[in-house]
Amino acid sequence: MVDLATYFSSNWADIEAAGRTYGTPLYLIDEYALRRQATQVVESFRRAQANALCLYSFKTNGLRAILRSLRELGFGADVSNLREMRCAVDLGIPPEQIVFNAPVKTMDELRLATDHGILIHLDGWDDLGRIASLNRRRRARVGVRVASGYQGSVACGRDIKFGFEAGQDAAEAIRTVARQPNLSFESVHFHLGTEVRSAKPYRDAIAMLSEAVDLAGYRPKYVDIGGGFTASGRIDDDGACDTTLRHVAAAIVAALDRHFPEATKLLVEPGRAAVAGSTTFLTRVAAVKRRAQSYVVILDGGVNLVPSLTYAKHPILFDGVDLNSLPGDNTIEVFGPLCMSIDRLATLRSSHTPKVGELVAVLGVGAYNYAESWTFGRGRPAVVCSQGAGQSRIVRSAEDPSILDHLERVAG
Ligand SMILES: Cc1ncc(COP(=O)(O)O)c(C=O)c1O
Repeated sequence: MVDLATYFSSNWADIEAAGRTYGTPLYLIDEYALRRQATQVVESFRRAQANALCLYSFKTNGLRAILRSLRELGFGADVSNLREMRCAVDLGIPPEQIVFNAPVKTMDELRLATDHGILIHLDGWDDLGRIASLNRRRRARVGVRVASGYQGSVACGRDIKFGFEAGQDAAEAIRTVARQPNLSFESVHFHLGTEVRSAKPYRDAIAMLSEAVDLAGYRPKYVDIGGGFTASGRIDDDGACDTTLRHVAAAIVAALDRHFPEATKLLVEPGRAAVAGSTTFLTRVAAVKRRAQSYVVILDGGVNLVPSLTYAKHPILFDGVDLNSLPGDNTIEVFGPLCMSIDRLATLRSSHTPKVGELVAVLGVGAYNYAESWTFGRGRPAVVCSQGAGQSRIVRSAEDPSILDHLERVAG
């Protein structure tokens, strides 16, 4: 059963009103749900280590409305490109609360990060060569990302793309950074992937970092354990029992204290856990076809706007009702409006008979949906933020379809 209070501070009537006022498709952010969830994340880590710093991973959802709210709650920034770096600086986030991390970094990005004194996490030897060649007055603040080899992440597969190889390769990178006069060695880092449901991989990866640091003979000021925390709020800690993020944070800090006893400061880069529950995707049933074995439902918003449906399950409500609460024999195949075969949102089994005009809500889409959405012959929809008590405002306008043409350089 879906607990709607996890996703909305408002009731279904307010959500329906937003669908009527702004039209569909639409992303609807619930400001209260956003702040509540993000506060739980910060408090979980601060309780475990008083000076732990949460850097919101901007790539998860880079809408300014979200970035601003999270900044107000005390988040720093994990940025991965020039736009995100500029946003972080424009929001007034001090450089010591910004980390720049990407598998490929341009010289412009490296220059901007260095000029602002932003911590740069190196991903490999090519990165190291590039940053060493920077001719800036200021020493670059640098950390070393190490591949954890973790395999359990939803959507990411085994961690082999990012970072230096654990062991000698990472130790050699740390030594090289520490000995370069124009670089300052400050941190070691891993990121496991997303929707990690146990503390154990974090503990193992912290041990792996400490091995590399011991081999190198240089100690970091910061250990950055990346993000990856589940948004469900319930995490299996080694299969023993369901625990909360607070318990996982405590287990991580215990591992940090054991392997980095010199009170190394913890950096955490949550994305999904802070924002996933904040946003609902609203769309409407545009057509219903009765097939021999099923109903085919075609919505006015497609999978290009909720790409995480391709690898994760999200609760889907029809006119406010979770169809899983109406078990029955109807198979309901839910599609979007795109002329492409992957535009399938869900297959549901229910006693419900779908109707044209029903308002369909896909819940918990705040992470990696707006950010990874793409156009397919239509502009992307508006984003509205609801502040409770019937108050709402557009925080990003719908893209006019002309956006698809205005960069074309061939007439007609
Ligand atoms: C380096 C890094 N840190 C943090 C995150 C945020 O991960 P999550 O949203 O699973 O917390 C990502 C996401 O890809 C990432 O690449």
